[in-house]
Parts: sequence; C-alpha cells; structure tokens
Amino acid sequence: MKDFLWGVATSAYQLEGGPDSDWAQWEEAGRLNARHERCGAATGHARSWKSDLALLPAIGANAYRFSLEWSRIEPSKGHIDGAALEDARRRIEALRALGIEPMMTLFHYTHPAWFWEYGWDSREGRAAFVRFASRAAEAFGDLVSWHSLVNEPIVFLLGGYLEGVIPPGRRDFALGARALEGMLHGFVEAAALFRSANPAARFGIAHNMLDFAPERPSSWADRRLTAAADRFYNRALLEAMATGEVDLRLPLVGKARFRVADLPRAVDFVGVNYYSRAHLRFPGRTRLAGEVSYRDRHGRGLTDLGWEIHPAGLAAALAAAAEAGRPIVVTENGIATGSDRLRSDFLREHALVVRHALDSGVDVRGYFHWSLLDNFEWLEGFAPRFGLFEVDYATLARRRRPSADLFAELGRMFRLHFDFTPR
Ligand code: FCB
Repeated sequence: MKDFLWGVATSAYQLEGGPDSDWAQWEEAGRLNARHERCGAATGHARSWKSDLALLPAIGANAYRFSLEWSRIEPSKGHIDGAALEDARRRIEALRALGIEPMMTLFHYTHPAWFWEYGWDSREGRAAFVRFASRAAEAFGDLVSWHSLVNEPIVFLLGGYLEGVIPPGRRDFALGARALEGMLHGFVEAAALFRSANPAARFGIAHNMLDFAPERPSSWADRRLTAAADRFYNRALLEAMATGEVDLRLPLVGKARFRVADLPRAVDFVGVNYYSRAHLRFPGRTRLAGEVSYRDRHGRGLTDLGWEIHPAGLAAALAAAAEAGRPIVVTENGIATGSDRLRSDFLREHALVVRHALDSGVDVRGYFHWSLLDNFEWLEGFAPRFGLFEVDYATLARRRRPSADLFAELGRMFRLHFDFTPR
C-alpha cells in the first residue's frame, strides 16, 4: 500500500508492560512515576491484541506504529523466546490481513534488564541490539516495510543520562553522548540487516521535536537559551541524519562531537514526534541550563500534562525536518486530556497543519496519532488519557471516543488527496 499513511502509534511497554524489562526493574526498585503507579500489564493488550488491532480499520486507519518488547523476546541474554517471536509475527500477520501497513520500532525506551550489564556505550551492548534486530529480521523482515527503528534518542539522552529520571538513571553527559553514538551505529547496522531481508524496506528515527520560545522575548539570555535548545534538541539529530556529523552542545552542561558516517545512507525518512512548545527562561534554579515552562499563550488551554497546545509548532518542526532532505512521517502527535472535545480540536488543527505543509510542497508521507488506546505514560502513570479509545482500568473495557470519528473522517480526506501510488 503506497498511499498516505494514516494511523495510530503505540509502544509495547505502555500497552502491555514487560516483566523482564529495565522499566519493570526500575519500578520494583521504587523509582515510580508521579502517581506511584506500576505499569504491570497496563491495558491488558497482551491478551486482547487481536480485538485491539481490529479497531484500526474501524477508525479508518491504514497504518499502525508499534514496538517490539525486546525483554519478552530475549528475557535473558542469548535466550530467544521462540513463542514471543511467533506471537510478534502473528500480530504483524493480523495487521496485514486487516489491510494495515505496519511500522515497527525496536527501541521505544525499554530494554531487557540484563542489557545494562553492557549499555549502549559498549561494543557488547550494541552487538546485543543488532543480534536482536537480526532475529526480528529473520522472523518477520519480509512482512514489514516501514521501520521507525529507534524512538526519540535525544529524549532518551536527556531523561536517561542528564536528568536521570528514566533508566539507566545516570547524570553524565559524556556517557550519554557515547550511548547516543552507540545507538546510532546500532540503528545503521540494524537497518542494513532488515534491508537485506526486504530491499523495499524504509528506515527512520522517530525524533521528538519541540517548538521553543523565550519566556521573556525581550531577554537576550532567554533568546540565546532558546536558540541553543533548538540546536541541541531539534537540529543536531536532523543534521546528523543529513550529514553523519553529530555535534551536541548544551551550554553550561557539555559538548560532544562524533561521526556516524553511514547514517545518511541508512535513513530513508525522518520521523517527527510533535506535542508542544516550551518557554525557556535563563537562569534555571532546578533545571540544568534554564527553566522550562508551558504557557497558554493562545487561549487553547493546556493539556492534562500541562503542555501548551500549539499547532503552529508542528509547522515549524516539519519545515526544520524537511531540511534533512528526506520524506517526513509524523510518527507521533496527540494530547493527554479528559476532554474529548479538546482532543478533537487538537486533532483537527494539527491535521490542518499537515495539510498545509503538503500543499506547500513539504514531502509528508504519513501521520500517526498518539494513541490508539489510553495507556501507561512513562513519568505519569495511567492518569493522562491519550487514546482515541478510552480504557476502563477496572474492567479493561475499551470505549470509542467521538474523536475517533473525526480521525476516520480526516483519514478519508488525506487518503483521497494524497495518494502516492504510482500510476
Ligand atoms: C512521546 C513518547 C511516547 C508517549 C508520548 C506521550 O515522547 O514517545 O511513548 O509517551 O510521548
């Protein structure tokens, strides 16, 4: 299927947990989110995946982004659980049978707990990831064409190695930069493996982008901080995809430069995960280089996570991403809210931005809404509601929200107008 990808995005741990993962271990060690909730079996998707996937055609989706839970496939080092691999293959076959184009992610924040004996900065850690990728490529490389192989490497670097709020919970910029280097090399090697199983396959990195604005537009320091944040958070990875040169600079925190020469050749599309705009103030009291806040500058309201609703930021993100010279897929965009009316407004306004970008010649190939179902949010537990379907956590029942109807309607419009099928 070559038409516009219109889908929803999920990740394995957030839908079904992973008892042998580093996150589960992290939770066991008491590193719980703000509401002290453990993920457990999350939405119960491990049991109900068949009926959950059947919701996709019902909301007019033609694509589905999901992740493999490495810790289920390789619960202890070198021991591949054949049944878990078979289960993953069955799910992908089910997608195909439903007429849904799969987009697969191998790294979406979680690792098997054993992985941290090695880590991304070590040769062994990277080799382990590539071995995992090769098992996946053998098992279902023939069935998958789109791969957002790794999710949000910069957020992982910030959360895992600078702020220490997600595994591995370090505060070491140099180590984080080496981990990023290892992950990007892992991406290149994994992409090559999948490509040999399916030469038509396409590869990208799902890159979280934020719009940044100075808290006090008249302040020179706030403006400098804003420019530096944009470079570090948004542009460094885009530049790396285009040139293979990685130049990370975070004023007052650290800098690192390295080269991943084969990265540009491995990247076929840029994945953009876009949610919000952040306002920056210098100096920071609690943060590294400055203070980050969200402001309701346009009266659209804030989301339940306190994030500003700012559709224009998506336009800026798409314009910046286009500079990497690859087609773009919006690999995540969504809103945590108890008000489904707000979700519909959010969806409509962001879809309109994508439409305008397409009209003005930006090569966007798809849009994935985050998310199909309410799910476990990393730092906040189950309170934030991101789903086009509501999950009742007492019964695990799913209930379709009205925004799912709008999603279906917009999908029809996009697929009608933006069909890339060669004629
Ligand atoms: C993104 C993550 C995704 C989800 C959304 C809300 O940064 O990739 O897993 O948590 O935020």
